[in-house]
Amino acid sequence: DSAEKGGYEHFMLKEIMEQPRAIRDTIQSVLANGDNGKVIESLDVTRFSKFVITGCGSAYNAGVVAKYVFEKLCRVPVEVELASEFRYKDPIIDNNTLVILISQSGETADTIAAMREAKRRGAVTLSIVNVMGSTIAKETDYTLYTMAGPEIAVATTKAFSAQLVMLYLLAVTFARKLGKLSDEEERKLFSEIASLPDKVSEMLKNVDTIQKYATTCVGYKSIFFIGRNIDYAIALEGSLKLKEISYIHSEAYAGGELKHGTISLIEDNTLVVAISCCERLYEKIYSNVEQVISRGAKVLFIGNCIKALPGEKLEIVNIPVINELFSPSLSVIILQLFSYYVAANKGLDIDKPRNLAKSVTVE
Ligand code: G6P
Repeated sequence: DSAEKGGYEHFMLKEIMEQPRAIRDTIQSVLANGDNGKVIESLDVTRFSKFVITGCGSAYNAGVVAKYVFEKLCRVPVEVELASEFRYKDPIIDNNTLVILISQSGETADTIAAMREAKRRGAVTLSIVNVMGSTIAKETDYTLYTMAGPEIAVATTKAFSAQLVMLYLLAVTFARKLGKLSDEEERKLFSEIASLPDKVSEMLKNVDTIQKYATTCVGYKSIFFIGRNIDYAIALEGSLKLKEISYIHSEAYAGGELKHGTISLIEDNTLVVAISCCERLYEKIYSNVEQVISRGAKVLFIGNCIKALPGEKLEIVNIPVINELFSPSLSVIILQLFSYYVAANKGLDIDKPRNLAKSVTVE
């Protein structure tokens, strides 16, 4: 068992550490004339009037991140739907819609049902799946495989990261095919994506800092995650990861929504995790940070454009600068490590959290 875990105490930590490799292999599978690259090239993206992205749990969260990336680069409207809701809402889709299904296992019952509903209505389906030969991989019109390798821990980490880079690569390629990017712009974006494995390795050097900080966080009853724009999208994943394995209640909010509700819950020693990788929005998120600190909260501030100084109430984790569209791949590493070490400090069964399953094959 310990050999399988590569010397790590849990599969989750081993899989967190494997992310530079998982991301690199996924990039190669698209850019180095690999099978995924051929599938993407074979798709005529000009025929679609919109994209719909669907999945469950973290796969859904990858879709929320992707909406920002696709809309910014492709200028095509994107809807993100929970797969468990999709078939009950009479979705407006037809043969000019591309439905992108995201699933690590390829066997999640609700995502399979969403896929079949999309096909029944004539949409073109494309899946991003980690498990070869799974139901979703077999039944969609186009299949892209993430190269994360087998994932054992129930809470996904490396498969999620592989999904994100696959979605970035897809968005950049689509944008070029739609005439929204010059060859030069495309090259520049690809080279930023190609820099991710090294930057993620750099992020993983923060283990000691996060481990130490997490020892001070086990007592919290509730933790809030805030961000704006794409930082909000990745805050959703940070919050999900934490509640899955640490059993601490958490919620993710778009920073601007704080004053519409959550601020009433902020009191002495509430913890707020704030993310700031969109430099143009730094002042906005910083003002949220000030607001919660003035009401007694402590803040873990993660970002690549932070100008504040650390203090008694403020812990800062700086991450490398990258195009904001790809920054979730870096901030999520800190969020994963944070969840992992909070749960580890509580002595919980991290790889098999209570009541959760790796793949939910029933409705
Ligand atoms: C379960 C897992 C999550 C995962 C979700 C979707 O809830 O615990 O980690 O994100 O299913 O699974 P899928 O295999 O479709 O990605």
